[in-house]
Amino acid sequence: MAATSTDRLPIGILASGSGSNFDAIAEAIDQGRLAARIVLLVSNRPEAPVLAKAASRGIETATVENGRFEDRQSFDQKLVSLFERAGAKLLVMAGFDRIVTSLLVSAFAGRLLNIHPALLPAFRGDNAQKQASDHGVRLSGATVHLVDEEVDHGPIIVQAAVPALPGEAPELLRKRILVQEHRIYPWAIQLFAEGRVQVEGRKVTVDGAAVPAGEALVSPPIEQG
Ligand code: GRF
Repeated sequence: MAATSTDRLPIGILASGSGSNFDAIAEAIDQGRLAARIVLLVSNRPEAPVLAKAASRGIETATVENGRFEDRQSFDQKLVSLFERAGAKLLVMAGFDRIVTSLLVSAFAGRLLNIHPALLPAFRGDNAQKQASDHGVRLSGATVHLVDEEVDHGPIIVQAAVPALPGEAPELLRKRILVQEHRIYPWAIQLFAEGRVQVEGRKVTVDGAAVPAGEALVSPPIEQG
């Protein structure tokens, strides 16, 4: 049976960039693969293409420029009030380029997700694809994790592996990782929508068992591009 708007999980999105993960999440909702509704998208960058993408889908948006706030806490306090007022039960960081503080983390404890373009705990921080490429790894990938006070550090929910090709430009690796990001992020959010995720310390289980390996680990055909 299709989910009605009242039993869809109300989610908020934080994004700073092009919004391809936002698109993937919105598509999954439209296609009935994700029982959620996006109640608000906030960007810290007025020029971010994701704002127009969300508006064209009729989603409420807000721009909150971090430069206008005295410190990180007051910026995060603004985010918390906006998302609480919008009724968001889960916050999804989709290419949000701002480090968040314990204020936001504790307001949405266990309900704040991020996606990182590497297999954590390797290559935390910016330019993860280039870091992986420069390091000469054979496999990289994407990680959906809960956010804690440290950057790219919280408990891991799902990962997808992507082969890294010797000599390949980091931009190509970035594109191939993105394909997997778009696959695993809506899937991870759906697990929350179904209330199937348990977290104990660093360990995340789904229905009390490990995340199915078939979903988590992929070695897709290499798309040249
Ligand atoms: C993605 O690679 C994501 O993993 C990282 O930022 C990028 C956002 O891309 N956190 P997009 O704006 O969703 O296209």
